[in-house]
Amino acid sequence: MKRRIALIGFGTVGQGFCEILLQKEQLLNEKYGFEAEIVAISDTLKGSISCKKGLDIQQCIDLVNNGQKLDEYKCEHGNCECGRDWDSLATIQNSNADIICELAYTDVKTGQPAITHCKTAFKNGKHIVTSNKGPAALQYSELKKLAEKNKVKFMIEGTVMSGSPVINLAEGPLAGCTISAIKGILNGTTNYMLTEMEKGMGYAEVLKKAQELGYAEADPTGDVEGFDAMAKVIILANVLMDVPLGAGAVHREGITKITSEMIESAKNENTRWKLISTIEKTENGIAASVKPEKLALTDPLANIMGATNALTFSTDLLGDVTIVGAGAGKLETGFSILTDILAIHRQIKN
Ligand code: HSE
Repeated sequence: MKRRIALIGFGTVGQGFCEILLQKEQLLNEKYGFEAEIVAISDTLKGSISCKKGLDIQQCIDLVNNGQKLDEYKCEHGNCECGRDWDSLATIQNSNADIICELAYTDVKTGQPAITHCKTAFKNGKHIVTSNKGPAALQYSELKKLAEKNKVKFMIEGTVMSGSPVINLAEGPLAGCTISAIKGILNGTTNYMLTEMEKGMGYAEVLKKAQELGYAEADPTGDVEGFDAMAKVIILANVLMDVPLGAGAVHREGITKITSEMIESAKNENTRWKLISTIEKTENGIAASVKPEKLALTDPLANIMGATNALTFSTDLLGDVTIVGAGAGKLETGFSILTDILAIHRQIKN
């Protein structure tokens, strides 16, 4: 069955998702009866293209890789009235997509323009699949209610630990357990940076590398100052622990004060610096923080290296359950979009 999809934003995640669709086209069709038709893409920098009969994904990827605009797309369908001037809102409203992938710029302070994209999609009866942390961190319950009212889905697996199934794990297999605490490493960029700095690379050089590898946010201050991990903490508290948490309630420190000397001296003490995120239910409510901690090498979190993330759920029925997996990256986050779309596909099918 064909699912018609529009992409709002065609950066690292959108392109990663499209590469997966090309790579897995046959498997997705044979195994899950799933066919994806990308009917529109709108990106503030790369231009816009829409075709009700479906776009040639490879051509779109080639255009942006060659530094050309999507507007230069050559359509091979006849009489399809391809659109080349739709901005994000026009794409959401006018395209024949059933599913909107919100992959625009992440702003965890205002959540915009992504929140408006989500609301517009819901009011137009379209599902939202997103790895954008802004809407989920700032307006999760309001957006979820609006989606439910309009009988569509608000899917956010990619907002925490890229495609590693954190939200799905807690909402699916762990349903029925009460989660009292969550602790882990939630930012791929900073974990990669700390890992490479231990091998001798300088701060500026390693940050540049993290950007090239597609780990860092468009504005990497969000990563190194802990805002990205803080947004993930807020999402996990709101979505999985039913605790409405605002940014003011999270103690936040990034890794900008961690020097190569501190990393070297930690190594000599058999310890390692990690940016640790913690949420704990306490007698007085909740304690949440993102901060660098010097862990003994015997601590399992001390041995999570590179862009890998790890998260431990403390539960009443199973004790601690830990997931270790990709935390950032082009295909890894692209996969989170696929996994949510496949979930919608299965639900519609059944
Ligand atoms: N910049 C984020 C990170 C991307 O490094 O973890 C994934 O959310």
